[in-house]
Amino acid sequence: MTASYDVVQVASLGADFDQRLAARYRVLPAWREPRGLAAFGGELQGLRVAVTSVRHGFTQSMFDALPALQAVCSWGVGHDTLDLRAAAARGIGVSVTPDVLDDCVADLAWALMLSAARRTAVGDRYVKTGQWRALGQFPVATKVSSKRLGILGLGRIGEAIARRAAGFDMQVRYHSRSPRPQAPYGYEASLVDLAAWSDFLVVACVGGAATRHLVNAPVIRALGPQGILVNIARGSVVDQAAALAALRSGELGGAGLDVLEQEPTPAVEFAGLDQVSLMPHVGSATRETRAAMAELVLDNVNEFMRSGRLLTPVAAREMQA
Ligand code: DGY
Repeated sequence: MTASYDVVQVASLGADFDQRLAARYRVLPAWREPRGLAAFGGELQGLRVAVTSVRHGFTQSMFDALPALQAVCSWGVGHDTLDLRAAAARGIGVSVTPDVLDDCVADLAWALMLSAARRTAVGDRYVKTGQWRALGQFPVATKVSSKRLGILGLGRIGEAIARRAAGFDMQVRYHSRSPRPQAPYGYEASLVDLAAWSDFLVVACVGGAATRHLVNAPVIRALGPQGILVNIARGSVVDQAAALAALRSGELGGAGLDVLEQEPTPAVEFAGLDQVSLMPHVGSATRETRAAMAELVLDNVNEFMRSGRLLTPVAAREMQA
């Protein structure tokens, strides 16, 4: 006889989340099994809900292994690793964790802008390694306040980044799939034109096939030798080879990157590029926001079990994209 479960967990979301989920439902912790869902047989038959994360994803073969699946509750705002087409084909709902991380991701975009422009990471090393004493004055850097900020993707995170620009007396324009009539910022229909106008270009759009290498060599050239590129979205949106070549040749002034095409990246990629400020994909990684993201996954599971609806489903147009 096979055990009967309500929820299959293909990713652990931390001890606290895992315990709370298991206290309420009969959970199959498939993430403990190195062979994944393939290791299970009849136990998967009646499972209605799956819990995952954007890092672990949810693939066609996972959908195939779960014949009774009705909902996937994922941790993270991104859905580039979740096979939405496979979900839509079977009418399976998918939830993510929007809103709760907007402020932290926007804060990190600003930290990277400031760090790339004012060289705070380099300055930190300069003091700690005794270079200040040995070499004297630190080189002058780039002003941030009163400059022009271009944003690629004016979703909730892009808007949170734009709002913060008011405190820096910056003009803001944006480029996205379509103009947002209510937004108090200028719309540029061409990304190259936005880059040419901008001192700072911040990438805040979704990842996935539709946005792959949107920031390509012409966009990078348009941003120019004084321009700074910031990416807190997905490494796939930027043609990293083109960005690195432009940074090395001086065609691009600097960059602040939380996300890269290959994560973790080999250190050699950015060796010697002091005009680049890097972080290891941590936009949402604060205690407060990570707790809120886990809570929202749990709320989605609870709501689905109660009413058959998800609280924060991926929008229908994204499911079909
Ligand atoms: C997200 O929420 O998509 C983040 O990138 C997760 O790290």
